Amino acid sequence: MLISRDQVLDQDIGLHGALFGGGMMARMDKVAGITASLMSRNRRFVTLKVSELIFHSPVLPGEIIEFYATITHQGRTSLTIQLEVQVYAPVTDSHRAVTSGAFVMVAVDEAARPEAILWKQEALEEANRAHVDREARQRGQATPG
Ligand SMILES: CC(C)(COP(=O)(O)OP(=O)(O)OC[C@H]1O[C@@H](n2cnc3c(N)ncnc32)[C@H](O)[C@@H]1OP(=O)(O)O)[C@@H](O)C(=O)NCCC(=O)NCCS
Repeated sequence: MLISRDQVLDQDIGLHGALFGGGMMARMDKVAGITASLMSRNRRFVTLKVSELIFHSPVLPGEIIEFYATITHQGRTSLTIQLEVQVYAPVTDSHRAVTSGAFVMVAVDEAARPEAILWKQEALEEANRAHVDREARQRGQATPG
């Protein structure tokens, strides 16, 4: 499910002419929090764990990045969100995978203790449909080997 889009500006660039990795991680963490909120009626989520964070390709100034989320695990107080970040080039209508990672988010109460997630079933179904559609589109675009 496409959660958000953003653009990389000159001020976001690190030492090697591309988006600073820490900047990408902060953007992904924010998107993971937004995704958790969209899927539930809980007020607060915190990041518990980030794993398999991979930078596949550098992101250059001016490029538009898209954040796609898939819910890969639904627990009682936690959920795992697989985030895929892609560069989208409007001129050629093409995508390039740039970063991916899995985020475990935990719903917490006012005292920062884990609390049960109040799922929004319709949002979960929409996210699942979007994931299936995207996979089918990607399969359709793949060049037969
Ligand atoms: C997130 C936090 C509230 C969890 O507290 P906790 O006492 O460890 O909570 P629990 O042991 O009850 O686990 C909570 C959930 O996390 C899951 N969990 C715990 N450790 C895990 C791990 N290593 N990997 C995956 N899931 C894990 C548990 O299975 C549980 O999920 P479930 O209810 O869906 O089964 C606490 O660790 C915390 O406050 N961490 C700091 C969060 C933070 O500041 N984030 C910002 C980073 S700068």
